Amino acid sequence: MDDILNFSVLPGDGIGPEVMNVALSILKIVGRENGFALEYKTNDVGGIAIDNQGKALPDATLNDCRQRDAILFGSVGGPKWESLPPKEQPERAALLPLRKAFNLYANIRPGCLFPELVDLSPLKTQTIPDGLDIVCIRELTGGIYFGQPKETTTLEDGDTQAVDTMVYRKSEIERIAKIASITAETRSKKVCSVDKANVLETSILWRNTVTEYFQQNAPGIELSHMYVDNAAMQLVRDPSQFDVILTENMFGDILSDEMAVICGSLGMLSSASLGTRANSLGQPFGLYEPAGGTAPDIAGKNLANPCAQILSAALMLRYSFGLEDAAKSIENAIKQTIADGLRTCDIATGNPGIGTSEMGQEIAKRL
Ligand code: IPM
Ligand code: MG
Repeated sequence: MDDILNFSVLPGDGIGPEVMNVALSILKIVGRENGFALEYKTNDVGGIAIDNQGKALPDATLNDCRQRDAILFGSVGGPKWESLPPKEQPERAALLPLRKAFNLYANIRPGCLFPELVDLSPLKTQTIPDGLDIVCIRELTGGIYFGQPKETTTLEDGDTQAVDTMVYRKSEIERIAKIASITAETRSKKVCSVDKANVLETSILWRNTVTEYFQQNAPGIELSHMYVDNAAMQLVRDPSQFDVILTENMFGDILSDEMAVICGSLGMLSSASLGTRANSLGQPFGLYEPAGGTAPDIAGKNLANPCAQILSAALMLRYSFGLEDAAKSIENAIKQTIADGLRTCDIATGNPGIGTSEMGQEIAKRL
């Protein structure tokens, strides 16, 4: 009998539903080849959930996710919901609570620039003639995103003050350092940890904890440290010096967008967010989503690049279902499609490119 992959599908808003459709059709084909079937339920999340159910993260959606082994996520938000109070907007009311609810502390963002696409990078191509292959390991449930207090108050003198709190525990730093060391083991055994230890207390703890963790648990990995301002500069000056970047929540948010653009297009970048909990297969429960957003300007026009969503589905097969061969076959089919010159408009050069669903069909043919 076939294995059954049980996951929750949360397409969300904007281009989410169209790229999700393509990713699901690719998963079905790969399943036929690799002996697995899909059992998923599609749930509202984000703006569409506000419209349909009055809440960006409805209880029914959260409960469905709890019954399953992984979440395949599209993207949330858009101009339609921007007038809502900040705490009720899709990003803060759906995505962050989902990350917290499942303790998805380890965000893995692979930044790959295929050699065929180096001309798309805004960097001078002589610094990256062979493309790029970097991975950002971002701590996702701590730091300034979640620290308390987080509030806006009126002071006695009538002035208004806002506070966000950056807080880290040693144990939170250790567990993400472990993910970076495991990742580096399978790659070039090099980790660059990024912080702001010349200014921030949390960064001093970060640097000391990471240093100690690697000394005790991963002496074979070459560990370096870099201040975040310098890292932002080095990423555009000479990105090939990086292999695994390890960093805290907000620095990772910023640096991973920078990494995305030097890799040619946000439409190519996937991500995995892994939790503390094992799923029913004994693999990490995870949420898999493209690094880009809802792209409202091109939503519904069959123009979006489905690659980031398909690559996120491949990461789901790899991490939450242990299906490495199937994940590889998807990644190879995408590489081949791009090498054959078939591209959506964001990565096409000198021609208008093909549509979202056509790109999906070309990838499917090469599986
Ligand atoms: C990301 C996004 C989110 C973040 C937003 C949408 C809350 O930018 O996944 O990088 O800041 O983490
Ligand atoms: Mg971001």
